[in-house]
This record gives sequence, C-alpha cells and structure tokens, in this order.
Amino acid sequence: MCGIVAYLGDKQAYPVLIKGLHRLEYRGYDSAGIALLKAGDPIQLYKCKGKVSDLEAFSEGKDITGTIGVGHTRWATHGIPDDKNAHPHFSESGDLVIIHNGIIENYASLKKELMNRGHVFKSDTDTEVLIYLIENIQKNEKVGLVDAVLIALNQVVGAYAIVVLSKDNPDLMIGAKKGSPLVVGVGNNHEYYIASDATPIIEYTRNVVYLDDEEIVILERGKEMKIKTIRNQDKTPYIQELEMQLETIEKGGFDHFMLKEIYEQPRSIRDNMRGRLNKELGEVTLGGIIDYQNKILNTKRIIIVACGTSYHAGLIGEYLIEDLARIPVEVEYASEFRYRNPIIDEDDLVIAISQSGETADTLAAIELAKSKGATIFGICNVVGSSIARATHAGSYTHAGPEIGVASTKAFTAQVTVLTLMALVFAHRKGKITEARYHMLLNSLDKIPSQVEEVLKLDAQIKYISSIYKDANNCLYLGRSYNYPVALEGALKLKEISYIHAEGYPAAEMKHGPIALIDEEMPVVVIAPNKGAYEKILSNVQEVKARGGKVIAIVTQGDQHVKALADHTIEIPEVEEELTPLISVIPLQLLAYHIAIMRGCNVDQPRNLAKSVTVE
Ligand code: G6P
Repeated sequence: MCGIVAYLGDKQAYPVLIKGLHRLEYRGYDSAGIALLKAGDPIQLYKCKGKVSDLEAFSEGKDITGTIGVGHTRWATHGIPDDKNAHPHFSESGDLVIIHNGIIENYASLKKELMNRGHVFKSDTDTEVLIYLIENIQKNEKVGLVDAVLIALNQVVGAYAIVVLSKDNPDLMIGAKKGSPLVVGVGNNHEYYIASDATPIIEYTRNVVYLDDEEIVILERGKEMKIKTIRNQDKTPYIQELEMQLETIEKGGFDHFMLKEIYEQPRSIRDNMRGRLNKELGEVTLGGIIDYQNKILNTKRIIIVACGTSYHAGLIGEYLIEDLARIPVEVEYASEFRYRNPIIDEDDLVIAISQSGETADTLAAIELAKSKGATIFGICNVVGSSIARATHAGSYTHAGPEIGVASTKAFTAQVTVLTLMALVFAHRKGKITEARYHMLLNSLDKIPSQVEEVLKLDAQIKYISSIYKDANNCLYLGRSYNYPVALEGALKLKEISYIHAEGYPAAEMKHGPIALIDEEMPVVVIAPNKGAYEKILSNVQEVKARGGKVIAIVTQGDQHVKALADHTIEIPEVEEELTPLISVIPLQLLAYHIAIMRGCNVDQPRNLAKSVTVE
C-alpha cells in the first residue's frame, strides 16, 4: 500500500528519496513520484505510472537538486493508476505539495464544496482535495501553514499519513497521521526523515519517533522537532532506538525476498522460541502475558481477528487452543467482525494477529473489541507498529522484516507463538498431561531442524513445479490442522502465480469441488500420517478415480498415499499439532517456483499490497 518517504537536511534529497522508494516497493504500488524544494524556486514535481525505475528514467536530465523533498509510491484507491493520480499532488496554485497514504472518506462532499466555489481539480484522488482544502484555509483564514494543516485535519474524516511542503516555507516539512503509519527519523544536526515504515530510514539513523494518531510533526531546518495533536496540544517526542538490521531488508544473495524469507524459517522459528521455550525445565514463558496473566488465563472465550495469511494462522490457533487448552475459540476476518455487531464483553480475550501491525481492518476490529471492554492480545511482527501499540498485551513474532508480499516466515512465526500460547494455557489450566506437555515441548524444539530438512527438498519441488506451471486451476486439500494449511497453500499460489487456487477441507470436496476434477486439475493433498490419515487416503482415491493429478505432502516412509499419488513430497514425522509448521514449507516453495516459471514478479505481485492500511 502507499509508501511515504521524506527528507529535510544537508544532503541532496533526491538520492535519499529514490533509495527510500525502492525500499518501500515491497508494500505494493502502481505509480511513484517525488517533489523537491529549493528556496526561491517553484516546487519540482516528477511522477509517473509504473515502477520507481520508471520514475528515475523520467526524472533523468531534469533538475533534481534540493535538500528537502518528498517521495511516494501509490497503491490506487480513488482513481485509476495513471500519471495524474500519482502523488505528490500540488495545491491549486502549485505552491503547496502533499503525499498521502490512507483514504479521506468525506472527500466527495469537501470536493463538491470547493468546486462550487470555483476550484478546478486535476486528478480523481481524495488526496488532492486535502491539499486544496489546506491552501483554501491558508488563504481565506490568513493563517500559516501549520495552522492551516491543523484546521484541515479537523475537517477530514478517514485515515491519513501525510507530508506537506510549501514553496513559501522552504525549510519546513509537516507530517501528520491518523490510522495510517508514519515514523520520523532523527539524524544528526537536525536532519529529519519521515517514512511509512523504518525501511527507508534505517541506513541513516536508528533514532525514530512513531507518531500517534491525530498527531502532527513540525520539522524545521536547524530546529528541534515539534509534535502537537491536531487539537493543538504540544506533545513531547519519544525517541526510540530501532533494532532492525540493514541486512535483514536486503536480499542477501537470494534472487528474491520471498525465497530468502522461506529459507530463513529455521532461524526465525528458533528466534521466536528463544527465551520462551525451555524444554529442560519444561517451561514456556510468554513475557507478554505476565501483566494480564489472570485475565488471559481465566478467559472463557477467545476471539481471534486477522486478515489474509494471519487469518490462516489464526485458524490453526483455534485448533491448537481448543484441542490442548479446551478454551472455546472463534476466528474471524477482522473486516467482517467489525461490521457485524459481534457479541463481545469484558471476559473475552481478543487475539489480533498481524505481520505488519498496520492492517486497517484489524486495527478497527481491535478498537471495537476494546470499546466493549475485552482484553486485547497482539501477535505482531513489526515492533512498534500501530497494532502492537493498540493492544493491552502481546508477543512479537521476531521473524525479522518480511519484504516479500506473500507472507511466509511471518506465518510460521505466528503459528509458533500460537502453539506456545496454547501450551501455556493448557499447562496452567491443567488440561494437558505432563507427559504430553513435555513431549510437545521436545517436538517443538526440533521443528527448526525439521524445517531445514524440508528445505532440502527444494530441487524436487522445483521439478514438480515445472510439470504444473501451466495449470489454470489448482485444488488444495487438508484435514484438521492441515485444512488451514491448504487454505494458505492456495493463497500463496494465487497471490504470486495468478493461478486460480482453492483450499478445501478434504472431506468437503465431495460437496462441490469434485465436479471440477479432471486430468487438467492438479490437487495438492496434505496427508501426514496423523489424525484423519485413513480418511484423507479415501479422498486421494476419489481424486484419482476422476483422473485428477495428485501432489501429496506425506510423512517420510509413507506407503499408502505414495501408491496412489502422482508425486509425493516426504516431510519429517511430527506431532499432529505441529504439522502445519512443516507441511506449509513445500507449499511455499511450490508457489514460488511455479510463479518464477510463469515469469511473475513474486516479490511484488500485481494489485497486492504488503501492508493494507486502508479499509
Ligand atoms: C495483505 C498481505 C498479506 C497479509 C495480509 C494481512 O493482504 O498481502 O500477506 O497476510 O495483508 O496482513 P497483516 O500484516 O495484518 O498480517
């Protein structure tokens, strides 16, 4: 989703902005632009549809000097992706310029009002309305830029992260946020950066301030930063140190971030469990639980809210917590939950799962649950993100930055945290025998090395991918713990290869998808030797009887499914509760290789955004 980067300091802004925009590419976008400011000159603005590299080509030979500037990658919401709708947007006079992430929900009425007063708009965006509004306030109410921004932000409804520059104030940069994320980087000698996330900032400074909702930051050359609320109350900036390492946001020798992140999973799962799982002492410690321990452990019901891949992790969480700890769990798409008047009360525990910690629907679901008095526990990857800050308690997944749009290591990290939670709940509530508890701790401890074993199957999976790369459809079947894995496998394939794929509980195939099966239909069946193995064997038979091609994920040494399937991928034997952490790996690799063979851009698939900051 839209990415923001801005710079004010002694360096030339253009290289900082372009590099920053490249760093933000992972968020998903369709056009890019920059604006540069120099005292006494008109604002230079370059923008175009396409990639950041297109913008670089477009600005070649033009005046790209200036030590203050803004850059933007746009993910279209209002208005098609084209040059005129790309950001930055000028005010009507061209004296002000804005970049924006979010949606101004009342833009239509504001626009109408401005048009009635004779103003003429050049784009179809809600953003342009905001900068026209700011300019109008400045002129009509004879106020300075900061006040005009404050007044305008009090008139808009919706979400925004913005940066505004003015030709008449060439040493001033104003940022503000509500709903969408914004972080300010503080360099030496009053050098400032603003960005949607820390990735464009990390190589220049580790000192950052995360803005809160309805806060505005005023950055002036040579001066200390000022933060105010949009109701004009002064706030003291809280400077934090970034822990992120630069290497973690680079490809490190891999062709794509997605592949790098798939291969990082042994490490990320290990990091996740470090300090939390102590198999010798038989202890699981989740620091995030401590303050709300009683409330969390005594909850009568858990509601998990999430979107996309995080939702699939949530489904596995439901199976784990109900199975091991016997606490009722409901899992909901955050986007549905918040609009359907759900029953929530003070005794409920709501677990919000989000890689980015910025998903607008998940944030809104949290606010709704909070307003009803529920305790909110966050499972987030991005430290300091909005969701991490909006929850009462939480556990980070410690997977490190995930740049590939298709989530991989964040998924296994989320499932790891949910497994640890389920074990804590089960043990503290006495719902699990000591023997089983210790056995699961021991098995969990081995998962990272078992993931390493699965990664060694990459060449075989690549070969299988070459056979099915031209498929038009693909079905994924799994039962019990592996049903959410089937959903996740199908999501990976469709996201990055654009092959239509569906995940189904294997037994449900008979109630519909079986009609689709013919010789052209690859069916990926997750069939480890645990749980409903016999039943899934019958499902494989049903597919084969109709000529479907079966790619089966089986336990090492399997004979029965192997005898029927066209291809088998053998994964190590693990306890049923832990299979998702292993069985999902071949599905990630399968999607990756198929997408590469189809010539797709796996790290930046069309239309998708890594961080969905609009509703
Ligand atoms: C987008 C991303 C997905 C992600 C989903 C939820 O759709 O492309 O990869 O699973 O958002 O994001 P979150 O950051 O809340 O986990």
